[in-house]
Amino acid sequence: MSTEAAYSPGLKGVVAGETGLAMIDGGAGRLQYRGYPIGELVEHGSYAQVAELLWTGEWRTDAHLPCAPLPAQVTDVLRQLPTDTNAMDALRTAISAWGAVSGTLWPPSVEQARAITAIAPSALAAFARLREGLEPIDPDPELGLAAGFLYQLRGERPDDAAARALDAYFVVGAEHGFNASTFTARVIVSTHSDIASAVAGAIGALKGPWHGGAPSEVVDQLHQIGSVEQAEPWIRATLARGERLMGFGHRVYRAYDPRAAALRSVAEGLASVSDWLARAVAIEEVALRVLAEWKPDYPIKTNVEYYAAAVLQGVGLPPNLFPATFALARHAGWTAHCLEQAEANVLIRPDVRYVGPAERHLPQTA
Ligand code: ACO
Repeated sequence: MSTEAAYSPGLKGVVAGETGLAMIDGGAGRLQYRGYPIGELVEHGSYAQVAELLWTGEWRTDAHLPCAPLPAQVTDVLRQLPTDTNAMDALRTAISAWGAVSGTLWPPSVEQARAITAIAPSALAAFARLREGLEPIDPDPELGLAAGFLYQLRGERPDDAAARALDAYFVVGAEHGFNASTFTARVIVSTHSDIASAVAGAIGALKGPWHGGAPSEVVDQLHQIGSVEQAEPWIRATLARGERLMGFGHRVYRAYDPRAAALRSVAEGLASVSDWLARAVAIEEVALRVLAEWKPDYPIKTNVEYYAAAVLQGVGLPPNLFPATFALARHAGWTAHCLEQAEANVLIRPDVRYVGPAERHLPQTA
């Protein structure tokens, strides 16, 4: 490589591709999918419509995306996992097994994107039941993906408020540009590998707490803080130890994350979390004030995970399913990026700066 080539650790600020899927204006706190503002999509759209929009570019009023039945081989693989398996590991394993069973090949197609997105909630629900010693439940073809996921977890249809709230969460989580997991998916597809490999790799990237593991840690954090009065000393002590506040900060947004704002409105409609939410809102105010004081030149605002925690709790999901539920939502974006990458494919293979020893030679043996 040329030693003159620009180097940015973590690819910060590097434009590594072009996309027509999400427009993110980090300075102004704006997010659009194919031009439609996220607030409008949450209020007037469904996850099925948003997924079709991302895959095909069309806004279809009749879009319906039910969960798909799990092939028996995939259920068998899930049965073999220890009951204390991390849910992200279980989902990644299920997607990998599904890829082997369905034999998905390059190039990715809209049909493959629909199929993998529709299988994922069935796989996660099946794992969640199996670890409790319960049998998986077949999907209800009348329900959309979010409601269908809750149905397959519990065996009863969710009420309208829970179904709408989780669907809104899925809309908000569907797509977000060149984040680490999406970039991973695109790198994998760029080698002419298949869509299931790309999604399995993306799940692996999303598993890290700096990317998708934050909402369950937000719940822990608020639990540890306890009362609003305790918030300021707790936050100051955490920052002084060099630790990060979960649910705050973002690589792109320097303004309030518009997804956090949308999810906060959704959470306000869920009576089951009203007390928790009131405390979360009060603690957020303290956190934003302390963070602004602590890093005056680097705005660290609330991110999507903070209020995702409220919505996911409000619909009754256990925190150990939060990251994998986020992964379900992101399937539409990952697979849309696979399609977009394949359409104008260039192998993604950046250069690296060598910083190891200069040329040297092995000791001569007699
Ligand atoms: N709490 C405390 N300090 C923070 C936080 C935070 N939440 N976020 C950033 N900082 C500080 C860092 O410590 C660093 O300080 P330093 O320069 O003194 O070392 C500075 O801000 C820059 O941090 P970077 O990691 O270089 O910058 P970036 O803005 O890319 O960080 C990240 C983004 C990794 C998401 C970070 O904000 C973070 O770790 N947040 C907490 C975890 C979280 O909520 N993740 C979910 C993100 S949303 C999503 O992935 C869907």
